[in-house]
Amino acid sequence: MSVREPDPAKQEEFAGRTVQVLNDACLGFMTSLGHQTGLFDTMAGLEPSTSAEIADAAGLNERYVREWLGGMVVGGFVEYDPEQARYRLPPEHAASLTRAAGPENMAGLMQYLALMGEVEQQIVEAFRKGGGLPYSAYPRFQALQAEESARVYDLALVDGIVPLVPGLADRLRAGIDALDIGTGEGHAVNILARAFPASRFTGVDISEKGIGAAKAEAARRGIDNARFEVVDSAELTGAYDLVTAFDVIHDLARPAETLAAVAGALRPDGIFLMGDIAASSRLEENVDHPLAPALYAFSTFYCMTVSLGEGGAGLGTVWGEQTARRMLAEAGFGSVEVKQAEGDVLNLYYLARRDGAAA
Ligand SMILES: C[S@@+](CC[C@H](N)C(=O)[O-])C[C@H]1O[C@@H](n2cnc3c(N)ncnc32)[C@H](O)[C@@H]1O
Repeated sequence: MSVREPDPAKQEEFAGRTVQVLNDACLGFMTSLGHQTGLFDTMAGLEPSTSAEIADAAGLNERYVREWLGGMVVGGFVEYDPEQARYRLPPEHAASLTRAAGPENMAGLMQYLALMGEVEQQIVEAFRKGGGLPYSAYPRFQALQAEESARVYDLALVDGIVPLVPGLADRLRAGIDALDIGTGEGHAVNILARAFPASRFTGVDISEKGIGAAKAEAARRGIDNARFEVVDSAELTGAYDLVTAFDVIHDLARPAETLAAVAGALRPDGIFLMGDIAASSRLEENVDHPLAPALYAFSTFYCMTVSLGEGGAGLGTVWGEQTARRMLAEAGFGSVEVKQAEGDVLNLYYLARRDGAAA
């Protein structure tokens, strides 16, 4: 058979898959609606109910709720009893869809679909002309990112991520200087500041909106050992015992300069704890990654693109472990260990120390 002649079975199978992709993509948007309207949370606490009862319990318009329920039933998310016209969200599904599910809640992540849709036309243009998009093209990003990462930090930061670094919890309890770069809305810093009141925390980001939200949270929670500043992470000043970067480096316009600035800002026995996407730098090794298509899409629509928007490196979401290790070494981190934290399957944690630093 010539390479140009299609294999009919393969053709039919793929055609079926494209239909499934369309259906699943639409279900993704409907799932985002279910999250934002609180419908999944409401349904998780209800017996099998009519659309009117569900709408009433959620405080929503019945006609919209009924249409959404239709999509959820045909998509296999919600069970339907046609005799009684009652809908039920099985607990096994609620475990992946409700706020109570914490980091297992996939419904929150679906909000990124619409975020990507908001810039689609500009991305099409960028394919033609190159370049990227400014952060201002994503007005909802900071809040969405903060919501998503809080799901992990609330559960895993103090009890799962800090203990990855031997002795770090003790040092934080005793009192050290810590810096979080690309802090976004600063929730990670506020959690650590509250858990370790003897330590002094600084969070920096280039987003004024993010820093404003971070300061507001600290004030709201009465946290006085955390401060936040609008600073470019490639231009750090001060000396720190701990620097953290959570899901930041691959977005940056100047990642190499930032890693060098971090190395320069660390005290001799300081540690850089870098959380970044768990993936390989080799495309062929990512084929079986359970979230690979989502990662490449997030990269195309946001991570790579904001970096290119500043004329930057455009590393992309899937820069991968091999590139991360190489760049850390080039920045002067002579010792790098890579670990994973329980409760955070999406990231790898790099424990990096400068050349000559004590392990
Ligand atoms: C994916 S978000 C991660 C935010 C936060 N660390 C979290 O885990 O939720 C990346 C952050 O890096 C920030 N950022 C991008 N370029 C930066 C730069 N040059 N200096 C400091 N922050 C930067 C963005 O504004 C954004 O808040």
